[in-house]
Amino acid sequence: AIRVDTAATGPDISDSMYGLFLEDINFAADGGLYAELVRNRSFEFGPADHASYTPMTAWSEASRGGATGTAAVVNDGERLNETNRQYLRLSLAGDGAGAGAGFGVRNAGFFTGMEITEGDAYDFSVWARTDRPAGTELRVSLGTEDGTPLAADAAVSVADDTWTKYTGTLTATASAADGSLTVTAGGAGTVRLDMVSLFPQDTFLGRENGLRRDLAEHIAALEPGFLRFPGGCLVNTGTHEGYQAPDWPRERSYQWKETVGPVEERAVNHNFWGYNQSYGLGYYEYFQFAEDIGAMPLPVVPALVTGCGENRATDDPALLARHVQDTLDLIEFANGPATSEWGAVRARMGHPEPFGMTHLAVGNEENLPDAFMERFAEFREAIEDAHPGITVISNSGPSASGPTFDRAWELNRQAGVDMVDEHYYQSPAWFLANNERYDSYDREGPDVFLGEYASRDNRFANALAEAAFMTGLERNADVVRLASYAPLLAHSQGTQWRPDLIWFDNDASWGSASYEVQKLFATNTGDEVVPSRATASPGREAPITGAVGLGTWATSAAYDDVAVTAADGRTLLADDFSAGTGQWSPTTGAGTWGVENGALVQSDLTSTENMLVAGDPAWSDYDLELTATKRAG
Ligand code: AHR
Repeated sequence: AIRVDTAATGPDISDSMYGLFLEDINFAADGGLYAELVRNRSFEFGPADHASYTPMTAWSEASRGGATGTAAVVNDGERLNETNRQYLRLSLAGDGAGAGAGFGVRNAGFFTGMEITEGDAYDFSVWARTDRPAGTELRVSLGTEDGTPLAADAAVSVADDTWTKYTGTLTATASAADGSLTVTAGGAGTVRLDMVSLFPQDTFLGRENGLRRDLAEHIAALEPGFLRFPGGCLVNTGTHEGYQAPDWPRERSYQWKETVGPVEERAVNHNFWGYNQSYGLGYYEYFQFAEDIGAMPLPVVPALVTGCGENRATDDPALLARHVQDTLDLIEFANGPATSEWGAVRARMGHPEPFGMTHLAVGNEENLPDAFMERFAEFREAIEDAHPGITVISNSGPSASGPTFDRAWELNRQAGVDMVDEHYYQSPAWFLANNERYDSYDREGPDVFLGEYASRDNRFANALAEAAFMTGLERNADVVRLASYAPLLAHSQGTQWRPDLIWFDNDASWGSASYEVQKLFATNTGDEVVPSRATASPGREAPITGAVGLGTWATSAAYDDVAVTAADGRTLLADDFSAGTGQWSPTTGAGTWGVENGALVQSDLTSTENMLVAGDPAWSDYDLELTATKRAG
């Protein structure tokens, strides 16, 4: 029964209560939402980023009509600009026969290749120069892996030896999932190329340098109240320290200024999640996207103190002061008049009107609350002095409870912080058991921004547990002002973290069960809570007695024939790790495993491990038995 107390009044629910967190994890941006089809378009990849990377990652040499030459990526004084350090130098023999003979390179795109649709138009562009006095003709072609043409070639005449942007359009005459782009140069001499790009014209709202339409539409359909970006662990930490060193040492934390302005002047960054991001989807595009989907923009800036497995804080006051100033500049970029220094950058990019930012978070998941709060105070004071209308959001570390969490909340309360960002990834059982989490939160203390949460899998049962939990968020809408599931996007062939809200590959995209729950809540947000109480007798008991588990696994490879069996003999889970695939994650490593509510869960995750939950899709009351055989040897 549901009893509604019509005489009582509950808290107002903020219009922006249910929002989104967009981080470039799982190839969410490059290879995903950012519609660029060329991977490593500016030849900046290298082994300093990732052992498997070279400057020619995704590229191979190509020849037409038997022409020969050499293709080398170089980093010298002839570069396009100081942030785009490397470029491709083609040394052409001038041989070959037939119209369009030439030597050059081919780009295979992301994962399985470029998804090309018959009838669609694709914008090609390249920065180029030639030392041949008569100029050089570039041939641009779209084809499949086996060389079948997908469009009529385009010809581009490179006029002289100054870096110039050349453009063209290719209209697909056939569809393919393994498309690639080839650029060859005819004649002899030296040709230099950089920023080789191919974009579908059919982007979200037709924007240039835009977003993949299907993904953006899935996101827009959630009618999000806010958009938190660009991370996550991505913001505070990265593995690009020393990237392109020693001639161009860079900082580890995310630098918003590197992500705005002309795309050819933006840096390439090796991100926390282990792959390179082009910053083509940068701060301007995030703000624009938030505006396009009616979401309040909510950027996160690095606090120079970090958790995410590192636990370190800067002791460099000059660096801290510079980041504080960068944050003030960011507010000017978002909100300043077009005549201000950073407002003018925004205006030049196409948006003279301010974006109207009202909230900004400093830091993400800090594990060192005392060190964090000292530095946070400097950001907050400077922001509140210069921009009193901005809500500066703090955080409570990476977990839902524990000493770090408690200390962070104590300090946030003492400091009278407006809003605290909480994060947690837990089992469905935890979400069900914690529906009343916020009932006892201090109404006089800081508001809560639940910036990241998810139960550990993408099954129906997870979505159900999240929905139940969200009724508790809503009941406490006077304390919980904003909430976002995380992560938002995952390429099925480039996943570092699961579960995720929206899945995709190069061709298609689909929402998880949790997506439907988020959509249900976000598109039906009430104005105020009407106090009510639901009572019911469970039809069945749930006699899963404690966790059955293997304890701590040395390594999954040490076991064969792992199975979870129900009392009726039905096998709920079974796998032989020898295949390395199957319903058990291929990345399953050392971990503590147990069974909760019919699902096998890994319970000692760190933030960088996959969150695997494999289980029976139904909430069930099986007696479970977990068996495994130790692999011989
Ligand atoms: O959402 C994925 C990651 O989870 C975020 O980057 C980080 O803040 C958290 O640990």
